[in-house]
Amino acid sequence: MASKRIVVGNMKMNLTAQEINKYLKVIEKKEYNNQVIFCPSSLYLPYFVGKTYGVGIQNIAAYENGAYTGEISALQAKSMHLDCTLIGHSERREYFKETDEVVRQKIKLSLQANLKVILCIGETEEERDSLKTYKVLKKQIVNALKGFEEKELKKIIIAYEPIWAIGTGKTPSNEEIKDTISFIKDIVKDSLHINMSVLYGGSVNEKNIASLNQIENIDGYLVGGASTKADKFMKIIEVVVNQ
Ligand code: 13P
Repeated sequence: MASKRIVVGNMKMNLTAQEINKYLKVIEKKEYNNQVIFCPSSLYLPYFVGKTYGVGIQNIAAYENGAYTGEISALQAKSMHLDCTLIGHSERREYFKETDEVVRQKIKLSLQANLKVILCIGETEEERDSLKTYKVLKKQIVNALKGFEEKELKKIIIAYEPIWAIGTGKTPSNEEIKDTISFIKDIVKDSLHINMSVLYGGSVNEKNIASLNQIENIDGYLVGGASTKADKFMKIIEVVVNQ
């Protein structure tokens, strides 16, 4: 389990090359102690590698290599010195129809390539309203992680992102986040016999980070929109790194 909390920026499909240049000038003024991971669009990844922060890709192919036009393999990501990949983000599950089986295959290929994994899980608003959150999370965890060995599981962390909280400005209460993280850690412990770090994601911003950071069992944050604005993201990082 990570002893220090981490902040991961999922910049999604945002920013032009010119905007990225400006962004890099702002972020390069700081030392990050490996507590921060930037996940920009794949095109810009080489600009981020080799600094005091980590770098991750937002997605990798479900295939090892070969004739898959437009795809990027886990091995290619590793060969460009990336640290990790996001897998199973709800946007990929929803818009690109990624099933639990595809998610598991991507985890397998990442681990084979020695690329760390941030597995994203989360419930829809409808599932939350019908009290199915824990059932949905358990299914996502077990289906994605079954069959891996302990040494492989140690290269995985989970990001809990309630889908209804992504990009909406809404977040669960601190109490709810704490309980859900606790549930996730217990499921992993009971079914896979390992302690796993769990991040929270969904409308994390420079205004709510101090409050979210009071949650005792949280291991860090996966930040979307606010990670695309260098000044806002720096404020979030400062709160977490200086705690
Ligand atoms: P927002 O921070 O924009 O809600 O996005 C969260 C997210 O999807 C990070 O992966």
